Amino acid sequence: MNYEEIVKKYKTPLFIYNIDTLIDRIKYLKNKLTDKYDLVFAVKANTFIVKSIEKYVSRYEICSNGEFNICNNLNIAHNKMVISGVNKDYDSIDNMIKNYDILKYTIESINQFKLLTELSKKYNKQISVLIRLTSNNQFGVSEDDFKYILKNIDNNYLLLDGIEYFSGTQKTKVERIEKEIDYLIEFTNNIEKEFNINIKEIEYGVGLPVYYYQADTFNEDEFLDKVKTILDKIKNKTVVLELGRSIASSCGSYLTSVVDMKTSKYGNYVIVDGGINHLVYYGQTMAMKIPYYELLPKVKTKEEETYNICGSLCTINDFLVKNIKTRKLNINDIFVFKNTGAYSSTEGINLFLSRDLPKIILIENNKCKLVRKDIKTSDINFPNYDIKE
Ligand SMILES: Cc1ncc(COP(=O)(O)O)c(C=O)c1O
Repeated sequence: MNYEEIVKKYKTPLFIYNIDTLIDRIKYLKNKLTDKYDLVFAVKANTFIVKSIEKYVSRYEICSNGEFNICNNLNIAHNKMVISGVNKDYDSIDNMIKNYDILKYTIESINQFKLLTELSKKYNKQISVLIRLTSNNQFGVSEDDFKYILKNIDNNYLLLDGIEYFSGTQKTKVERIEKEIDYLIEFTNNIEKEFNINIKEIEYGVGLPVYYYQADTFNEDEFLDKVKTILDKIKNKTVVLELGRSIASSCGSYLTSVVDMKTSKYGNYVIVDGGINHLVYYGQTMAMKIPYYELLPKVKTKEEETYNICGSLCTINDFLVKNIKTRKLNINDIFVFKNTGAYSSTEGINLFLSRDLPKIILIENNKCKLVRKDIKTSDINFPNYDIKE
């Protein structure tokens, strides 16, 4: 099925995730980076592709009980799950420790350290942990708290495997990655000496960048070669790379149709049936940049026009792209926005204006599978006066 046939059947707005593209992407990343580095997929980037990549990633980074439920219901192996996240509540962690053999838990605070200790004792179960070292924000623990945990850890219950570190996404400068790796190496050496321990593993969120806009220039091969050289500075440790955006972006297309057009002295405005409630491009300030896109149907014409592409929300911010010069548009033309496989379906302000959530379709081996119907947010935004408490 081509995209036009898919739209005929399912209607826009919708996301299409191409699993073949996704798997090729993971193979590319592994080939460039990870002959000796394992990959962890950060589930938050796209929950719909989790199952399709099970064979290709060694772990999943799960940051909430909701993400855990999704992975659990997809029968993702528990020995591939790393339970991470800044808020680990008692009941969720109790359920996980009691009922499953989870690969690892991260410790992001002294309270989490106490909680994990308490629950592993309660069920008399040793669990593996990574201590997340902060990058000076609300995530992870300070160096002092890290040391406090090392002094007080009961190895019968919490088995320390290593360090987790993630400082942010879309890192476009290798120098920043190098600084972080140098810091991690130094910190690890120091605590290994001070506590006479062996840190086996570093789970590092590289924050590899994705270039979304036509004006960007990026030599990814070269960039990844440099990143690999930097990672190779880490000796005698398992290094696991946590990635979301860089794995998932390129497999996604977001399709939205032109539903109205108008012209005023301020320009040509095109209204599409989607909007910024669904589509999130990193770094899209005021919709000024032109993302990679395609227009359907493919029409051969030399006539061009400049448009502002706006979504269906009641906010002046609902611009997908401003001042885009393209072929003359018509009602029902379809924009296919590329590289939308990471974060769009999970980060959009989906509930605003009670518009439906887009359908989600996976394409694999040229076959199309609807994996989410268009969900009515009017049900979610509806005050139910009949709830029995
Ligand atoms: C702890 C952690 N690891 C990995 C990631 C994935 O980052 P990216 O999508 O930039 O690869 C995130 C994203 O927020 C994160 O919070």
